[in-house]
Amino acid sequence: MNRIEEHPIINFKIGEEIPFKYNGVELWGRAGDTIAGALIANDIKYFRITNKYKEKRSLFCGIGQCTDCSVIVDGIQNVKSCVTKLEANMNIFMQGECD
Ligand code: FES
Repeated sequence: MNRIEEHPIINFKIGEEIPFKYNGVELWGRAGDTIAGALIANDIKYFRITNKYKEKRSLFCGIGQCTDCSVIVDGIQNVKSCVTKLEANMNIFMQGECD
């Protein structure tokens, strides 16, 4: 697990654990996580593979302005994981491997 649980300056609430799947593997996130945050907390570093050069992509802007963090959520492509809240039982897949 790769999650900041405490911070010396910032106080934040840690939400309850919620299950989700990534590429068929059951993982756990926290209520209030973005999808990207939950993936990073589970040591998943890459979310998308580019079509042309098959390069791995992850967070770039972190504010919904590029497409580097796009994933497939419950069959819907191009979901920006950095600005989409994780919900219980989401079925998330890396985008681009099967394009
Ligand atoms: S990292 Fe740029 S849209 Fe998510």
